[in-house]
Amino acid sequence: EPVVMGIDLGGTSVKLGLLQGEQIIARTSILTNEYDQPRDAFIQARRFAEQALTSAGYQFEQLQAVGLAMAGVIDEATATLMETANLRAWHGIGFYRELQSVFGKPVAVINDANAAALGEACYGEHPADSLTFLTLGTGVGGGVIVGGRPINGEHGCGGEIGHVTIEYGSDARRCGCGKPGHLEAYAGAGGIVRSAQELLAESSQESLMREIDDLTSEKIADAAEAGDKIASQVVRQTAIYLGRAISMLAHIADPDVVLLGGAVTFGGHATSTGRGFLRSIREENARLSLQQIGTTIEINFASLGNDAGMLGAARHASQIAFR
Ligand code: BGC
Ligand code: NA
Repeated sequence: EPVVMGIDLGGTSVKLGLLQGEQIIARTSILTNEYDQPRDAFIQARRFAEQALTSAGYQFEQLQAVGLAMAGVIDEATATLMETANLRAWHGIGFYRELQSVFGKPVAVINDANAAALGEACYGEHPADSLTFLTLGTGVGGGVIVGGRPINGEHGCGGEIGHVTIEYGSDARRCGCGKPGHLEAYAGAGGIVRSAQELLAESSQESLMREIDDLTSEKIADAAEAGDKIASQVVRQTAIYLGRAISMLAHIADPDVVLLGGAVTFGGHATSTGRGFLRSIREENARLSLQQIGTTIEINFASLGNDAGMLGAARHASQIAFR
């Protein structure tokens, strides 16, 4: 069976994996900021592929295609990063040429959340042909799978749920992309911290968070888990914004399942804060949505963690290469 490679290029790390069918035959992770140029990271990725293939008894020639997942609006035809809120340094770079010249193989580039959605849809605990995925991290991303494939749209913006407006007032926060009131400005890691700071400033209630200088979404999750009222309020508020956004997406895509992944899920199923977060999202979606969407669609945490994007990128590459 042919081997494909998935590369998930994130702000912090680059995840690399070699896939044969559903089997991961080798994997590793390198640090993004050790490379000045994406090309240098790709060269490292090729070296890894050569070594891993050789030690698994294959040859580099058996690698059939390479898929790259990255944040931002991607023109899949030219594999160019058209617009990005959080990867500014690489804006406008034609990744297609870079990747192809380093690997000499068919390559495909895909939005990170679309890739993670595809990974979850194919390899996760909730396999589905019709699935909507949200990734919660520095950015808030979305991947809408219909008929087994992610919708990228005509301009690369299909499923960009992080940039849907959920606050319209003149005091709405600005998103990293520059536009007002976007979901990412409220439910992204930075937005969550800002919500905590605002609630702390408004209230005179005691809070564990008052002692923390460098507040992060993880520390907010810990405080909520320790019973902190204001931190729990932040979690709930974040959930409400997400429930609204999910309701909007669900009325367009009407998926079987909606999955939440990424680093900022407040502990997921493992903590009572995470479980409460999920419950609040479900309640808000049910409160706002048509009955079929409110009660029938399964909303849950994703199951593949950090692997989803890499797996989806590899899958995307094989869909393109063996089309
Ligand atoms: C970007 C998306 C990306 C998401 C998660 C957003 O700011 O617009 O393209 O999927 O962050 O990385
Ligand atoms: Na997307």
